[in-house]
Amino acid sequence: MSVVSILGAQWGDEGKGKIVDMLSENVHCVARFQGGANAGHTILIKNEETILHQLPSGVMRPNVKCVLGNGMVIDPVLLVEEIEMVEAKGCFVKNRIYISYLANVVTPLHKELDCSLESSLGTRAIGTTKKGIGPCYADKVSRNGLLVKDLKNLAAVKANLEEKINRAVNQNLINSDVLPLLKEECDKFYQAAALIYQYAADTITLMNEMVAKGSNILVEGAQGSLLDIDYGTYPFVTSSNTTSGNISTGLGIGPTKIDEIIGVFKAYQTRVGAGPFPTEQLNEIGEKLQQIGGEIGATTKRKRRCGWFDAVLAKYTNQINGFTSIILTKLDVLDDFDEIKICTDYANGNFPEDNLEGLKPEYITLPGWKTDISDIRKWEDLPANTKNYVETIERLVGVKASRVSVGKERDQIIEKK
Ligand code: GDP
Ligand code: IMO
Ligand code: MG
Repeated sequence: MSVVSILGAQWGDEGKGKIVDMLSENVHCVARFQGGANAGHTILIKNEETILHQLPSGVMRPNVKCVLGNGMVIDPVLLVEEIEMVEAKGCFVKNRIYISYLANVVTPLHKELDCSLESSLGTRAIGTTKKGIGPCYADKVSRNGLLVKDLKNLAAVKANLEEKINRAVNQNLINSDVLPLLKEECDKFYQAAALIYQYAADTITLMNEMVAKGSNILVEGAQGSLLDIDYGTYPFVTSSNTTSGNISTGLGIGPTKIDEIIGVFKAYQTRVGAGPFPTEQLNEIGEKLQQIGGEIGATTKRKRRCGWFDAVLAKYTNQINGFTSIILTKLDVLDDFDEIKICTDYANGNFPEDNLEGLKPEYITLPGWKTDISDIRKWEDLPANTKNYVETIERLVGVKASRVSVGKERDQIIEKK
């Protein structure tokens, strides 16, 4: 297997958590390279659901090491809560999780700034997860960030953060009303920072040693390609590069060490938060997808917007990432549709030249299969119309599917030969 990456290829929530958990049975390590607590990766093991935000989805396997790479933004308070949550389920993290010394740290001020920025945008708000992601990456790029290695000297961290909070109040970036609550949050933050510092490590050496030994490593993306800060539907994006080019930067392993780049696509399309979505179905089709697919955000519990598969955007994200294969998830959600549409072109423009807003999708219509496929485990046992749907997507996107997923559980997966 060696180094295999699993990346979201739409607007996030494609089912990366399920796929990484499923594939992590025989791997040595699962590593995250970007994002932070904005991610919500769901894993279902024998009907018990776990939602992970910062811990890689290999954490539920006791022998798997988990790396939180330098490209991530780490929220110590939420990470401590997440560690407690998985340990309560019997998954202990001691000597198993490694947080890069070079990762940036999300402070309570970043979260406050995220909220005040969003409310100041009014109707132009991005609909962020309010986890402080944008302000933290902004501090990183403006060379004003706090790194995990800085947490060694908490007195200095405290002095620095207090100064930044004062500056934010003086510049009217945050309201002084929030100061008492912010102080409480900061006290929690210092405690959590001390706890997570015990997991701080030189993950670059660790990763490269594993690569040199030929260990099997899974790289887990967060968000999706259309939320990428460069390639996504800007400004309705997240603040990191979610695409394959950032794997090396976010983990410190050279691009030549990455063997496979697998794109995860939902068999239809969803989006949570604001921003254009050409194939969105604001009708009973969208509602049916939302209900059958259980499309509720894993982090913010907002209803996800739903629509038909967009092969124009899929072709674009395939190009950006250079997928070696794709995995199509939630195929079972389409079991009960008479007809299924796929967008193959836009009638009045192109992306990224034109903003997606206002582009009119052109569709092809395929027959549904009207069969419960969730218990099927072999490609050849799938209905002909299901195989036709998957093969049509392969043709339109220009890449082969290696697997399709037909349910939430680990074993609800079909290998495609
Ligand atoms: P991620 O952010 O990409 O890890 O995806 P989320 O966990 O946010 O959302 C995916 C949702 O779909 C979760 O509730 C999963 O349990 C669920 N899921 C994943 N794969 C499948 C599948 O093949 N079929 C069905 N019905 N649900 C799935
Ligand atoms: P996973 O890893 C879906 C969206 C937010 C918002 C935009 C910016 O579970 O697929 P941010 O808080 O990152 O500044 O928000 O990005 N968003 C996601 N949507 N899945 C995610 O992660 C997301 N992470 C961020 O809804 O529109
Ligand atoms: Mg998610």
